[in-house]
Amino acid sequence: MGGLLARSFRGKKEGMSSLGASEGPPLAEGGTRRWIGVVGARGFVGRRVVTHLRAMGWRVVAFSRNPSPIEGEQGEGVVWRRWPAEGERVADGLVGWFWLGPIWGIGEEMGRWLGRGARVVALSSTSVVTKAHSPSRAERALAARLRAGEERLQEMAAVSGAMATVLRATLIYGGGEDRNVALIARWIRRFGFFPVCGSAQGLRQPLHADDAAAMSVAAFFRPETAHRVLTVTGGETLPFREMVIRVFAALHRRPRIVPVPCWGLAAAAEIGRWLGGEGSAAAVRRMNEDLVFEGSEAAQVLGITPRPFVLNAEDVG
Ligand SMILES: NC(=O)c1ccc[n+]([C@@H]2O[C@H](COP(=O)([O-])OP(=O)(O)OC[C@H]3O[C@@H](n4cnc5c(N)ncnc54)[C@H](OP(=O)(O)O)[C@@H]3O)[C@@H](O)[C@H]2O)c1
Repeated sequence: MGGLLARSFRGKKEGMSSLGASEGPPLAEGGTRRWIGVVGARGFVGRRVVTHLRAMGWRVVAFSRNPSPIEGEQGEGVVWRRWPAEGERVADGLVGWFWLGPIWGIGEEMGRWLGRGARVVALSSTSVVTKAHSPSRAERALAARLRAGEERLQEMAAVSGAMATVLRATLIYGGGEDRNVALIARWIRRFGFFPVCGSAQGLRQPLHADDAAAMSVAAFFRPETAHRVLTVTGGETLPFREMVIRVFAALHRRPRIVPVPCWGLAAAAEIGRWLGGEGSAAAVRRMNEDLVFEGSEAAQVLGITPRPFVLNAEDVG
């Protein structure tokens, strides 16, 4: 653990005596505090970060807007609390924070706790860049919300003396529960083919959720990442069409990719969206756009080499 955390940790110990047992995180053996707050602990990256921290011997205050325990993570060392944190000292004594919900959700309630935890790592998205000039008004608004959330976090950290790191991630997949690879797999299972817009040669860098979690944890323990925005990508750059072929392979199916005129597929996606689906015309058109970022710097700083896009049965649900 770096000097930064050691200093922060000592600072927390000094303020511990005022904690009521039902307010702050319970004391660990010997009165030592090794607690970290995770907002969004129920999410598919959040759950992995909690598991990672537990394996390292840290204890976690897991925040959720609905804080019932999740199976497998309700044992010793994980305490569930409601977010926004209620009560004067419910989040006192934490060494730091992970924000793993949508970054635009960061607001005053987070600022209230920041000065009391020296380290903060938040996951944002490369959509800040890729959707900033989208033809879709909703996507432009999303990019603006993400950017505003990133800026708000850095401003609040500056005011409180906390040290924040923002990780902008490319599309995240894994465990069959994401809105990218798992969505493609569900479509293929249901219809037996996958429609693409034209040649679907737009490049992608899918990042496995396990790697996103490992990179978030690495950033937390590396003070040199403080005050920075790092872009984290998967370990392989491949065309969207090849991504789909790999999903077919993981499902043990022969690839049946059907090129459709982009205008037709975009119109179908919009109709689907009105009916509650997850596609959009803009997403369809992006099948032929490269969404590529320089991820090697972050990988080096974080000391983690993300895996190539090799899917297992679990990844496709
Ligand atoms: N999935 C991707 O492809 C992708 C790509 C790039 C970046 N990211 C970023 O990576 C992070 C994690 O991804 P994810 O897919 O796990 O995120 P998510 O499912 O959107 O959110 C994770 C959890 O955050 C909590 N949450 C939602 N809104 C919140 C709010 N306003 N305030 C506090 N907590 C809130 C929810 O848990 P409760 O309901 O229990 O509160 C949710 O389960 C997100 O910041 C996302 O923007 C995701």
